[in-house]
Parts: sequence; C-alpha cells; structure tokens
Amino acid sequence: MALCAQLLFFLYLLQFQHLARADSCSGCFTQSSAAYYPNSDTQGTESGACEYGTFGATLNGGDVSAASNLYKNGVGCGACYQVRCTNAKYCSDNGVTIVITDLGSSGDTDFILSQHAFARMGQTADAGASLLSLGHVGVEYRRVSCSYSNKNITFKIDQSSNFPFYFAFQIWYQQGSKDIIAVQLCNADNLTCKLMERSHGAVWAAVPPSGPLSVRMLLSGGDDGDETWVLPPNNIPQNWTAGATYDSGIQV
Ligand SMILES: *[C@@H]1O[C@H](CO)[C@@H](O)[C@H](O)[C@H]1NC(C)=O
Ligand SMILES: *[C@@H]1O[C@H](CO)[C@@H](O)[C@H](O)[C@H]1NC(C)=O
Ligand SMILES: *[C@@H]1O[C@H](CO)[C@@H](O)[C@H](O)[C@H]1NC(C)=O
Repeated sequence: MALCAQLLFFLYLLQFQHLARADSCSGCFTQSSAAYYPNSDTQGTESGACEYGTFGATLNGGDVSAASNLYKNGVGCGACYQVRCTNAKYCSDNGVTIVITDLGSSGDTDFILSQHAFARMGQTADAGASLLSLGHVGVEYRRVSCSYSNKNITFKIDQSSNFPFYFAFQIWYQQGSKDIIAVQLCNADNLTCKLMERSHGAVWAAVPPSGPLSVRMLLSGGDDGDETWVLPPNNIPQNWTAGATYDSGIQV
C-alpha cells in the first residue's frame, strides 16, 4: 500500500515536471499584440519608467519598447524580446529584437514599440509603413539574449545620488536572457555587504558604506533553475560622483 502511494506520488511528480517544462518552454513564441508610441519621436523615449534617461532613447538603435505584464515591477527592464508580427502580407519572419525600457499598455497589448521598432517588423520599408498605418497588430514574441558588442555591464550613477549619503545607479547594457533579481553593495576592502533596493525601474539604491564599492548581481535561474551571483572585477571608486558611469569590467 505504502509502495503504491509512493509510486503514485512519483507519477504525480513526473507529470508536474512535464507541465512545468511546457510552461517555461524557453524557445517558444507567445501570441499577443503590439501598438507603438503615438509621439513623433521615432526612437525610444527619454522618460521611460525604467529611468534610463537619454540612454533609453537610443539604446539598441532605438528598437525599444514599453511592456505591460513583462515589466514585472521593473525586473523586466533591460530584457530583450524577439517580436514579430503575424500578418503574412507585411511581416518578416524574424521581426525585431527590442529592449524593455518603459511600462505601458494599450488595450490588450504586451508591447508598445518605438515607431522605429514597429516598422522594422515589416518585410520592407514599404511594408513597415503599411504596418504603421494599421497601428495595432497581432504579434508573437519570445525572450532572447541581449547582446551589445564591446560593451560591459555599466553602472550609471543616478542623478538622485548625493555623495556620500545616498547612492543609486542604473544598470546599463544588461546582457543575456536572465533577470537581475537582487543587487548587493559591498565595501570592497572588508566585503561588508548590504542588499540594495530596486527604487524604481532599473534604478538600485542604498545608503552606501564608505570606501571603494563592489557590486554583486543575482541573476534569475535559466532552464536549469539555478540563480547565480555575478561578481564584477571592477570596483566603483571611493570618490564616485552623480552622473558618472563606471565600467563593471564584465559581460554576462
Ligand atoms: C568595513 O569598512 C568600513 C569603511 O572603512 C567600516 O566603516 C566598517 O566598519 C568595516 N566593517 C567591518 C565589519 O570591519
Ligand atoms: C577620484 O580619485 C582618483 C584617484 O584616487 C582620481 O584620479 C580621480 O580624479 C578622482 N575623481 C574625482 C571625480 O574626484
Ligand atoms: C570590459 O572589461 C574588460 C576587463 O574585464 C576590459 O578589458 C575591456 O576593455 C572592457 N570593455 C569595454 C568596452 O570597456
């Protein structure tokens, strides 16, 4: 009897694993729809909720997007998605790869693309113009790796920072297909660390320790489910200033 119960439990586990796998099918496309920013600015926006500022307007050649559910309270900032529209008359097979820089929805859309990105889903420039005149199209999307050639992850010290009392930065050039789910700030000399808070969007903040600073980032699990800490080789110098950028010295 006990054996039988064990066997049933085992079968149940197997089935559960199977379902879990189908749910997180990493290469699969999800059906949705997309609109585009109504402003005249064809590229990204400087005022996106991720708080990338002017960097957010030109990031990825202006192929950026606002997300609704995928924004995930800011965890989704910096994530890359392949988005392709589904109208065979106009749409290319590859669509466009965009970076999330903002929060927003329009009806049931998952994405509000920059006009630049929206038009790039077309097979040709003319097809892109036709898509723009439709305004709202069916799409399918999947998470893909972000890659920026010759760019390390970079810490842009937020203008809200106030040396030495309040320390906040945005994370630029996030790479790969995992989310940054926690950040630790350490005194680089004695490795006393504290967790930073995601203040909003891609901005992390803390009351900093004195001395040079070492930042550690926790990446979400991939298909294997293991979360991993990334330890950049470069420290942020003791005399950091608001507005400055510091190279982490690492790509992921
Ligand atoms: C680590 O260094 C900082 C700055 O020098 C100091 O304030 C702090 O007390 C040190 N912590 C420990 C545990 O030694
Ligand atoms: C910070 O200190 C370094 C040397 O430790 C110096 O080269 C650099 O100019 C300083 N930067 C600022 C902004 O004061
Ligand atoms: C990235 O960091 C490595 C060292 O970790 C450095 O050699 C390289 O020059 C950096 N790349 C850029 C574009 O700054």
